[in-house]
Amino acid sequence: MVDYNNGSDEVNVINISDLKKSYFLGDMEVPILHGIDLCIKKGEFVAIMGPSGSGKSTLMNMIGCLDRPTGGKVVLMGNDISSISDNELAELRGFEIGFVFQNFNLIPRLSAYENVMLPTYSNAKNGVDTVQRGKDLLKLVGLDDRMGHRPPELSGGQRQRVAIARSLVNDPSLILADEPTGNLDSKTSAEIMNIFSDLHKKGRTIVMITHDPEMEQYVDRVVYVKDGYIGNN
Ligand SMILES: Nc1ncnc2c1ncn2[C@@H]1O[C@H](COP(=O)(O)OP(=O)(O)OP(=O)(O)O)[C@@H](O)[C@H]1O
Ligand SMILES: [Mg+2]
Repeated sequence: MVDYNNGSDEVNVINISDLKKSYFLGDMEVPILHGIDLCIKKGEFVAIMGPSGSGKSTLMNMIGCLDRPTGGKVVLMGNDISSISDNELAELRGFEIGFVFQNFNLIPRLSAYENVMLPTYSNAKNGVDTVQRGKDLLKLVGLDDRMGHRPPELSGGQRQRVAIARSLVNDPSLILADEPTGNLDSKTSAEIMNIFSDLHKKGRTIVMITHDPEMEQYVDRVVYVKDGYIGNN
């Protein structure tokens, strides 16, 4: 079992130093992230902004344990991800990180409720009544009357609400959202942002990639990524 609270990194959910990431195309190394330093504290709501292709999703994939860095250090909830095993990494990802994507990433043939419950089938936290939790979360996002609907029977905004409920089902320390309002109109985007805002007020740590300057009003801090570096704007 990973120790989620060891050492002095307890307050910083994310501690990144000199993070480098390259992709390899055949023998050719293509550097994308050139040495990123970033700390995110427990309870912070942070937006990551920057031009297309600057490395925002690549950075988020490292934070989300979906990929490993080429160099530097990523410490999540006190765990140095370069020194833990693949199993521990999967456990950290499954229990402590909730993901929300631009394209919702729901399974079309499963109901809203079944989609929300999906992460609990492989990774259920002991002692959590996940059946009740799934229902409570759909209620929280305003979909208590749509639990049996499948994604094709839901609007884009409703689909994203299901995805947000799913991201919360294992009660993660951290929510990572990659352009969660990218496919939504401005009214629906505001509704989704109000849900994130409420979660933030309840103490969740949220990191969200966005292109939309309107979103700055909801967050504590904006981090700019440009050409694989963190910049001021
Ligand atoms: N798996 C991969 N293999 C090779 N190159 C990749 C891979 N994933 C991303 N890249 C390259 O890394 C660079 C950064 O991509 P990334 O997806 O992080 O950008 P982004 O800032 O999220 O852009 P956008 O705003 O368009 O989503 C791009 O030049 C991209 O082509
Ligand atoms: Mg991206």
